[in-house]
Amino acid sequence: MITLDRVGFTAGKRQILKSVSLDIKKGERTLLIGENGCGKTTLLRLIAGLNRPSSGKITYSKIKFNRKNRYKKIGVVYQNPDYMLFMPTVRQEIAYNAVSTDYAEELIELFGLSKIAERHPQSLSEGQKRRVSIAAVLASDPEILLLDEPTVGQDYDGLKEMVEILNGIHEKSGNTMITVTHDVRCAGALCDKAAIIRNGIVAETGGREIAIKFFAGQNI
Ligand SMILES: Nc1ncnc2c1ncn2[C@@H]1O[C@H](COP(=O)(O)OP(=O)(O)OP(=O)(O)O)[C@@H](O)[C@H]1O
Ligand SMILES: [Mg+2]
Repeated sequence: MITLDRVGFTAGKRQILKSVSLDIKKGERTLLIGENGCGKTTLLRLIAGLNRPSSGKITYSKIKFNRKNRYKKIGVVYQNPDYMLFMPTVRQEIAYNAVSTDYAEELIELFGLSKIAERHPQSLSEGQKRRVSIAAVLASDPEILLLDEPTVGQDYDGLKEMVEILNGIHEKSGNTMITVTHDVRCAGALCDKAAIIRNGIVAETGGREIAIKFFAGQNI
């Protein structure tokens, strides 16, 4: 369980998040949605421990991690994959933090990356980069998986496949999955619970129906 208790975040003079309260159950798939610039990425960074809240607090219970293993237990897939790809080949990128070489190879296969496994990650298309960055994070078998816009650059088949892989791993591992998305196609597939962020707070929470309603209102 991750509990956000009146979490606020201010950068310089700008208050980005005012008071976010949210309970995220272990093993649940949560969707974070909201308009551009409402603070979704900021909130993910706070949950990941990459930034500290300016006010309020975040507590983690029933999740076993310490300072040393934190970055393997909490996997973050960034909105911009260029920030995280740094190895000379796709294969090495995915193996870097992997629990085993076998698991890295399994993910390469699963994500359909075998043919490009020896390529430099920076030479790939946006959609391919995103798949590599997701596979690289999954390789460490994180208990908490934070995904910032995972489906950007994926066509319909790519999206369907990605959602199947993520849900398959979720079922097997029981990980806690938090996804930020503008993609209505994720709403049904990656969502047990949705939270809408507006004006620095959680304006609404509910099941996937509120995500679907939110996207319908945006005419996407
Ligand atoms: N370190 C920072 N310093 C100043 N302002 C920041 C900082 N980080 C984010 N912001 C601002 O805070 C607001 C929220 O940013 P954030 O990236 O969290 O939004 P978002 O909901 O993820 O947006 P998008 O949907 O476009 O990805 C934006 O206006 C952004 O410019
Ligand atoms: Mg963002």
